[in-house]
Amino acid sequence: MPLRLESRDGRGGGAGQGTLRGIGSREEKTTMIRILPPEVADKIAAGEVVERPASVVKELVENSIDAGATRIRVDVQDAGKRLIRVTDNGSGIPHDEVTLAFHRYSTSKIATVEDLARITTLGFRGEALASIAAVAQVSLLTGTGRDQPGVLVRVEGGRVLGVEPRAGRRGTVVTVENLFYNTPARHCFLKSDATEMAHIGRLLGAYALAYPEIGFALYAEGKRRFHTPGSGKLREAIIATWGLEIAKAMRPVELVRAGIRVQGYIGGRRLSRSNRSQLLIFVNRRWVQHTLLARAVEEAYKGLLPSGQHPVVVLNIELDPAAVDVNVHPTKREVRFRRLQDVLETVERAVRSALIQEAPTPAAPTVPGAPPRRRRPSREMVRLALEAQRPLEAPEERAGLPPLRVVGQVRQTYIVAEGPEGVYLIDQHAAHERVLYQE
Ligand SMILES: Nc1ncnc2c1ncn2[C@@H]1O[C@H](COP(=O)(O)OP(=O)(O)OP(=O)(O)O)[C@@H](O)[C@H]1O
Ligand SMILES: [Mg+2]
Repeated sequence: MPLRLESRDGRGGGAGQGTLRGIGSREEKTTMIRILPPEVADKIAAGEVVERPASVVKELVENSIDAGATRIRVDVQDAGKRLIRVTDNGSGIPHDEVTLAFHRYSTSKIATVEDLARITTLGFRGEALASIAAVAQVSLLTGTGRDQPGVLVRVEGGRVLGVEPRAGRRGTVVTVENLFYNTPARHCFLKSDATEMAHIGRLLGAYALAYPEIGFALYAEGKRRFHTPGSGKLREAIIATWGLEIAKAMRPVELVRAGIRVQGYIGGRRLSRSNRSQLLIFVNRRWVQHTLLARAVEEAYKGLLPSGQHPVVVLNIELDPAAVDVNVHPTKREVRFRRLQDVLETVERAVRSALIQEAPTPAAPTVPGAPPRRRRPSREMVRLALEAQRPLEAPEERAGLPPLRVVGQVRQTYIVAEGPEGVYLIDQHAAHERVLYQE
């Protein structure tokens, strides 16, 4: 079928005639393909990377992490609209490379197409600083701590305004002022300070949970809002980020299977949220958005949480960088797996086995000869035990467990349950062991 371009008034522009009608106008314009001036192209490209103040914080913090920082401080004013400053104690940038860092597609992190196929750093495109500098006033002070002097560079709207030697310590300070000062369309889409601040807080919390060995601090208008100890202990990072009560209700997860390691903490059935804001998943410590992964986690909770509720989870999935493609979306938050099914199954099993461990098992009598304490196994425990005994190769069967009524327990080992096809005897401990040690 021939392609027709039509204006809103319904009159065909006439494919092949070389004309297009402006929407809502009858004026005819000659199309002309032209290369956009760099300042326009830069702003378009920047728009993909920098959506709001939190995007700037994300890119700068990722750079600090890639530079091996152990302390990262973020300062903001007016929720980042007026100022964002990220200070780190990382490697710094050698003075003769500093201006290069602001060029689009300039990076120290990858060099070849092969590198692109196994990315081990958070950054890899060489776009972030160029994008930020295209839509804000930026200064970068950096030092490598060796015998070289440090450098201060100022860039505005993509133009380098000055480069000066500066004495300074090892590390980098990037200051971003007046974000979107030259892109009013973007500026007017910024939300209230409270909303933008919430995005920044959530983002920094996520990084703090992915990198417990780094001490993070967030200051707004000079006041400290949040900080983590950087002790390397995830539990301590959870306490600092979400508070002691939540941390107390969470259990460790650890499973290695099929070359995939799943590690983290998950909340039990009493800890749930009406959205997925506290269901955090990292892939090789990159905070990702992946609906199927989130579903795999929730699948393990099936029947445990009230409907419409979501669990509280911090999980890192570690796997060969060559088995995951992170070059999917400009924000680098989407990933694709070579062996998606393996990843989903490992995640689900890891979460389920941690939930089974959490399920109360009847305690053994402490006084010799005393009658064992009778405690009825919960329906959830039965469900988890039963699911663990099913063949894992048949995911489509998972949904259809028979409705069971728990009748009792034998020798604190077997759960007796009544189902539509008769009585079920479930070896609760064997099921538990199988989940833990299979493969
Ligand atoms: N805080 C920092 N400490 C040390 N080097 C830095 C820092 N920030 C940036 N750099 C250097 O500047 C380069 C350009 O940074 P930029 O963020 O633009 O690109 P990238 O991190 O390589 O890739 P991406 O666009 O995916 O973030 C980096 O490759 C790195 O060498
Ligand atoms: Mg970067």
